[in-house]
Order: sequence, then structure tokens, then C-alpha cells
Amino acid sequence: MNDTIKDRLIIFDTTLRDGEQSPGAAMTKEEKIRIARQLERLGVDVIEAGFAAASPGDADAIKAIAQIVQNSTVCSLARANEKDVRAAGEAIRPAKSGRIHTFIATSPIHMEKKLRMQPDQVVEAAVKAVKMALEYTDNVEFSAEDAVRSEMDFLCRVFDAVIKAGAKTINVPDTVGYSIPGLWGERIRQLVERVPNSDKVIWSTHCHNDLGLAVANSLAAVMNGARQVECTINGLGERAGNASLEEVVMAVKTRRDVFTCDSRIDTTQIVPTSKLVSTITGYPVQPNKAIVGANAFAHESGIHPGWRAQASRDL
Ligand code: KIV
Ligand code: ZN
Repeated sequence: MNDTIKDRLIIFDTTLRDGEQSPGAAMTKEEKIRIARQLERLGVDVIEAGFAAASPGDADAIKAIAQIVQNSTVCSLARANEKDVRAAGEAIRPAKSGRIHTFIATSPIHMEKKLRMQPDQVVEAAVKAVKMALEYTDNVEFSAEDAVRSEMDFLCRVFDAVIKAGAKTINVPDTVGYSIPGLWGERIRQLVERVPNSDKVIWSTHCHNDLGLAVANSLAAVMNGARQVECTINGLGERAGNASLEEVVMAVKTRRDVFTCDSRIDTTQIVPTSKLVSTITGYPVQPNKAIVGANAFAHESGIHPGWRAQASRDL
């Protein structure tokens, strides 16, 4: 693992995958390509371009993005099964830099009710999926879906097993947007401390915004060792959305006194990206939305600095 990356906050954008799950936000292949090109311009490290096994259209769009994008890693999501992993592997094949992101649920409720699998079977499926993904790329990410409601000992066991299998990024999602910052930071800190070889992987977080805390939880994770944040432009995503990319990036950049890492995002591209995603998806940006809203930090007397203006300049 490259040591310099430890001080880099990796920005993993999932606008085209988790964001697209917002009702009515489905995009055509051409629209996805336009957004992917803009995400590359923005300086996003990883573009999650879709979920290849979901449909031939999804796979086709990922493949097209993988052919075009040169400066960002192009990723496909895959459940931890052979069909999904192979579909993801084929879709990212043309990429200069490609990643497979495989996941399986690890909470008792999901394992029992959704997967109908025993914990041992979940560990086995996770390891098998990671090993299969490595046939296509050495850049494999593993997510423990519903990590927020998973038992700590079991999470440690799954992560230990997938790291041994070769996963390079370990993602800890708050799938249902249930956590609060102090607890989420503590969960990440404990995982980093307890999981063997945790220093050999990048720890990642993926927070949903059901309690309006997705950005706060993501930042708490960063303060406790996470070096990848999964987020979307304008916080797009199903239900209350995902962590907003622009808020995470600007918080880390603005509070350099607090954070020991920074992203490589070109902040001059934040507002154009926000506008493009809003236009294509038809999801308007509320005027008082932090960073990209039309009124964000505007002040009648003009005394206070406008962060929206700063997000249009390079800080
Ligand atoms: O919210 C979630 O758990 C996800 C996973 C697939 C990472 O989107
Ligand atoms: Zn999600």
C-alpha cells in the first residue's frame, strides 16, 4: 500500500449507482457518460458507474464509462455471488483502472430475513466473491451491508477474512442511516484497532442520510481512520439520500486544523457538477443547501465569506 495515500482522502462517488436509486432519477447511458466525464474533471478518485448485474443497460453504461474515463478508477457494484462478480468484472474490463465492489449483508436481521444464510455461509460467500473479483482486478472493495446493525465481533471476523482473501478497501456502511457521529466514529476506531492487518487496507465509510447525519457520520469516520468516503453529488440517493460529496470535501478542506487528510477534488468544478446532476436527474438543489445552494452562506451585508463562491475557486 502506498503510504502517501494515507493522507489522501479518497472520494468515491456513487451518484451513478446509489444516487440513481432515487425515485425518478434513472439516467440514460449518454447522461451517465456526461456525468462520469464531469466527475473525472472534478477529480473524483473512484466513480461507481453502476451495478453491472442489474440489467444489460447498466452493464453497457459501465463498459462505456470504463472505455472513456482515464483519470478516475471506474467501479461496478456486485453482490457476493458468481453471476454478479463476473458481470462486474466484464463491465470494468476496458478501464485503465477498474475496481469491483462486492458486498453482502452482515447484520443478524439481514442475514436471517433477506439472505436466509447462516453467519458462516456469509463469511464463505464474502471470501469467495473477493477471490473471484481478483481474477479481474487487484483493486477489490468489500462492503458489509448494514454494518451499523451488525455485531462487532462478527464484523471483525468478516473483515479479517476478506482482507486475508485480498480485499484492498473495506467499506463500513450505515445502510439505514441510523447512526450518530460519536457512535459511528467509535465503530470505525474499534474496527481499525481490532481487525488484523487493518493498516494494509483503506477504510471507507458509506452513510445514508435518514437522520440528516450522513455527512457528520462520514466526517466522524474520517476523524477515526477512514480514508475513503462514499458520497453523491447533491447528496442524491434513495430515501433521504447519501452523504453529499460537496459538503464532505469542503468540510475537510475548510477545517484543515481538524483533519489530517485532504482530497484531490478540484473545488472549482463542484458547482458545475452539482448543476449538471440536478439538470439530468430533475432533482432541484434547494436554495439553502450547504455549499451548492443558490443562497448558501450569502449574507445581506456581504460581510461573510460566500463558501459557494469559494467552492467555485480553488481554495
Ligand atoms: O447502503 C449500502 O449499504 C450500500 C452498499 C451496497 C454499499 O449501498
Ligand atoms: Zn447505499
